[in-house]
Amino acid sequence: MSRAKTGKRRFFGRGAFAAGLLAGGLAFVLAGCWGGYVEDLSEDTRTPVDENRIVVGVSQLGSESVWRTANTASIQETFTRENGYFLIFENARQKQENQIRALRSFISQRVDYIVFSPLTEEGWDTVLQEAREAGIPVILIDRKVRTADPTLYTAWIGSDFYNEGRMAGETLAQYLEQQGRQEETVRIVVLQGTEGSTAAIGRTAGFKEVAGLHENWLILEQVDAEFTAAKGQEEMERLLSQYEDIDVLISQNDDMTFGALEAIRKNGLTPGTDGDIMVISFDAVKDALELVSQGVITADVECNPEQGQYIRRIIEKLEAGEPVARLYFVEEQVYTQENAAEAMEERWY
Ligand code: AHR
Repeated sequence: MSRAKTGKRRFFGRGAFAAGLLAGGLAFVLAGCWGGYVEDLSEDTRTPVDENRIVVGVSQLGSESVWRTANTASIQETFTRENGYFLIFENARQKQENQIRALRSFISQRVDYIVFSPLTEEGWDTVLQEAREAGIPVILIDRKVRTADPTLYTAWIGSDFYNEGRMAGETLAQYLEQQGRQEETVRIVVLQGTEGSTAAIGRTAGFKEVAGLHENWLILEQVDAEFTAAKGQEEMERLLSQYEDIDVLISQNDDMTFGALEAIRKNGLTPGTDGDIMVISFDAVKDALELVSQGVITADVECNPEQGQYIRRIIEKLEAGEPVARLYFVEEQVYTQENAAEAMEERWY
């Protein structure tokens, strides 16, 4: 049962709070100037949030990618007033200190649930402890945290990033075999996502495990390109100027891939299964699936951003006093030229 329903706390929208302060201040000034009758605005005019709604504070880590925008939309479309929720949404703009500040503000506002997507894995113990002391359940989405006490959060929903990395490696192996290249040296570069993030850690480790089974795979360099198109392009340009004969690009998200494709073309090279550089990407957003269907991207490992409904189901269970699992994995698959076009039709992101 949420605190909103038990009435243990009184919560006010921040806009209403500011408006209330302004109105109160105005009344004070007017009373001082006129010394006569003014409408009594000193009474609390703030609009209380509907006591029947569940208040959810969400700290999103940023808006660096198409995937992230879709993830945000999935959350915002789920936690609506019509569905019985009051959503407080904060975008941390890729800064952990902003996320910690948002979490503390949710705690001081005594929200019913905290939902957050941690930028990186380390450094959350203190604020999670504060949430526990305030009795607020924390649901992690997308990425994980590394804590001394894993019971500091109630549940996690997201992707099996390690498996995604393995799927990328296995798909590459299949294509190289089809091309009869299993004996020749394959020169690989890897664009990684945000350093220290679960997505980058898992995808790197999963791919490395498969790479380790192939003596002919030579990883020339793996570099942090921050999950953005701009950094993906910049790093790919540098890699192309530094290494000759790159055969394969593993790019840990579609945005970095879009940037890297620009760099490859600018260098007079052709990306593609039958081109100069084979590209394997992650996320499988609509624009990338189109490139997969054209054979520009050889394979795209899906990362499913539609997590809003999963979070809602967990909250509903908690509200009903039912037990919840600690980990929920979203469904994902690999897209190649065979199935990309069909999937594209249903993609809204
Ligand atoms: O954590 C998920 C990753 O973060 C997605 O692959 C990427 O696009 C996003 O920025």
